[in-house]
Amino acid sequence: MNILIKEILTLLPKADDCTDFEVKSCSIYIKDGIIESIDAEPDGFKADKTIEGSGKLLMPGLINAHTHASMSILRNCADDLLFNDWLFGRIMPLEDKLTGKDCYWGAKLAILEMIRTGTTSFIDMYYFMDDLAEAVDESGIRAVLSRGLIGNADDPSVGESKLKEAFDAIEKWKGHDRINFMLAPHAPYTCDDSYQRTVAAEAKRLNLRINTHISESLAENENIQKSYGCSPVELLDKTGLLTDKTIAAHCVHLSDCDIKILADRGVCVVTNPVSNLKLANGIAHVPKMQKAGIKLALGTDGAASNNTLNMFRELSTLSLIHKGANHDCLAVTAKEGIVIATQGGAAAMGRDDLGVIKPGNTADLIILNLDNPNMQPCNNLVSSLAYSTNGSEVETVMVGGRLLMENKEFLTIDSERVYHEVSKICERIGTR
Ligand code: NI
Repeated sequence: MNILIKEILTLLPKADDCTDFEVKSCSIYIKDGIIESIDAEPDGFKADKTIEGSGKLLMPGLINAHTHASMSILRNCADDLLFNDWLFGRIMPLEDKLTGKDCYWGAKLAILEMIRTGTTSFIDMYYFMDDLAEAVDESGIRAVLSRGLIGNADDPSVGESKLKEAFDAIEKWKGHDRINFMLAPHAPYTCDDSYQRTVAAEAKRLNLRINTHISESLAENENIQKSYGCSPVELLDKTGLLTDKTIAAHCVHLSDCDIKILADRGVCVVTNPVSNLKLANGIAHVPKMQKAGIKLALGTDGAASNNTLNMFRELSTLSLIHKGANHDCLAVTAKEGIVIATQGGAAAMGRDDLGVIKPGNTADLIILNLDNPNMQPCNNLVSSLAYSTNGSEVETVMVGGRLLMENKEFLTIDSERVYHEVSKICERIGTR
């Protein structure tokens, strides 16, 4: 299918390293899901569909590099709680009641919200892999899924069974053009050192990327220090989990030594500023990590701790909090924030064909309507994306050249049905 997006203001990389942008009006030619050409009409190109770009802005889709999509069922039902009370006292008992079908509907709700606010790919960690994969398959969004793994030496069968679930899903969905998998040792406090070593060896054997949580709360650091006499980062480094194929969510409480280890190993840190603020876990040392050369991506975390999956809100928060926390107006500039929310996420997924609009890249694109008071005047749209866009401006979304939302109409998901099903689940598990 050929798509022409005609004369639209477009967020383009200024130079080869793609860390600076220019916004200029151009026409984008898309062929079979790939950006074929910018401005120069390819020979014999005949558009099956033309999108008029007047008054609109085209940019790469945002990449939510850390979330738990199905937790959208648990939105607004565990708020203003201490981290441990939130997780162990409220969230986990509710999760025990969820079935695979519940997680399917929860994922659909999450995907609706992500599409509506301009996310075209997400990296997920949860359970019921098949149900999640089905929701991703049907919706047209792109995702990297990972079965959250927990395990310890006292009862090896627990860890083994979860690994088996991960392998089964990987086998079943092998070759899907929009679904990939990682191995996900959940966190240092839910996977002991022996299980971490097992997962690291399996990831190496199968050449899979690793998705984990590190140093989300101070309590985690204290407990790991007590049990192992080192920091969570040092522990994961010893067990072989930190490589250039590892992505680590949160990383709020890092020492300078931890930062050096993550940089040396080439780990990608996925920062989750809103979730860290809401659960009162603190503010990650993002500027220090940038200085150390750590690869960064951005994620919302789940809707139970955010409580949205809106990457524009996340981008705005990212660009604001580090300025305030560091008394430095240059901390995480608008451009840096956009790079982290797009190219950073692509790198976290292990993809070099996403996150930048250029010929040869996959057409995961979003169109924002500039006919909104907060987008006017259009005198600096790069700043606007970080500081004044709120996500409601997104009106058209495509993944691999397939339209998932056009003029705010969802094309692949029946939103009314999703709201109805999720509402029924909430009634059953007792959250409404
Ligand atoms: Ni998380």
